[in-house]
Amino acid sequence: MGSMKPRLDQSMQAGNEGAGIIEDAGENVKELIGKTVGLAGGAMYSQYRCVPAASCLVMDEGTSPAEAASCFVNPLTALSFVETMKMENHTALVHTAAASNLGQMLVKICKDDGIPLVNIVRKSEHVELLKNLGAEHVCNTSDDNFMDTLVSALVETGATLGFDATGGGNGGELPGQILSAMEIAANKTAKEYSRYGSDTYKQVYIYGGLDQSPTILKRAYGMSWGLGGWLLTPMIGRIGMEKFQQMRMRVAKEIKTTFASSYAQEISFEQMLQPEIIKSYAKQATGEKYLVNPHK
Ligand SMILES: NC(=O)c1ccc[n+]([C@@H]2O[C@H](COP(=O)([O-])OP(=O)(O)OC[C@H]3O[C@@H](n4cnc5c(N)ncnc54)[C@H](OP(=O)(O)O)[C@@H]3O)[C@@H](O)[C@H]2O)c1
Repeated sequence: MGSMKPRLDQSMQAGNEGAGIIEDAGENVKELIGKTVGLAGGAMYSQYRCVPAASCLVMDEGTSPAEAASCFVNPLTALSFVETMKMENHTALVHTAAASNLGQMLVKICKDDGIPLVNIVRKSEHVELLKNLGAEHVCNTSDDNFMDTLVSALVETGATLGFDATGGGNGGELPGQILSAMEIAANKTAKEYSRYGSDTYKQVYIYGGLDQSPTILKRAYGMSWGLGGWLLTPMIGRIGMEKFQQMRMRVAKEIKTTFASSYAQEISFEQMLQPEIIKSYAKQATGEKYLVNPHK
């Protein structure tokens, strides 16, 4: 409870993002009335919100609030992975828990934008799922030859940047395994031996905590590597307003294709607090997101 102490006895409004239809608007933005908009405004688990017009991402005609409900966090995170790659001088990506909602978006973005991507999943059915979306490289941590397939994919793509949603995946070893495989791949093309390891810089960002196990680092990757945390909000600041607007426009345009989200069930606030339903969405399993409908 230590880390929760500052939060105790405080009322906390919940809900990162959502979508709805504009009921009324200020004088300068009356044209928004009746439009479907998405936004990440905090306190989004509400029937009505009053927000600045500029925060709203206006969807194209024919987009429902349910289709726009997840238009912010996952789409912009997937797009921001690509921006991080460019800013930090990498040319290809590795992604874990890759069959996730976000992972499927990333597969489509990378395919459309010609960015080599190495996907890591833990079930054979998810290898199929991603291949059907057009993924070229999908490695399965449950396969005996996981490390060999990962190294081959890294040699082929030259990926030196990884985004790990698990933190402690594959018995805590996953972030370290990615760095090790990158080192093996880099040494395959090294011109001479160095006892300090390859001078290719390898970076893994942990951006989620799907597995609460400790992260185990066996440091079999020389001295040119980094492991850090990654969060969308500060990254938006680094990207800058102009680029961020372009990314938002792309999300609105492709909300039914690249950035489409699907839901196992639509639930009310009351249902959201039922123990059986909590158990179900807390699994964070592939394709089992729940859509909260505050009007239900
Ligand atoms: N840092 C940021 O700014 C940021 C922004 C957006 C999202 N995120 C994070 O991104 C992650 C993905 O979000 P999402 O909405 O796309 O999730 P999602 O659709 O609910 O999918 C979760 C995925 O994680 C896999 N998974 C669950 N537990 C796992 C474990 N212990 N080891 C390996 N894989 C596991 C599931 O695969 P199985 O079916 O095999 O269980 C599933 O494919 C979440 O952790 C979220 O918090 C972070």
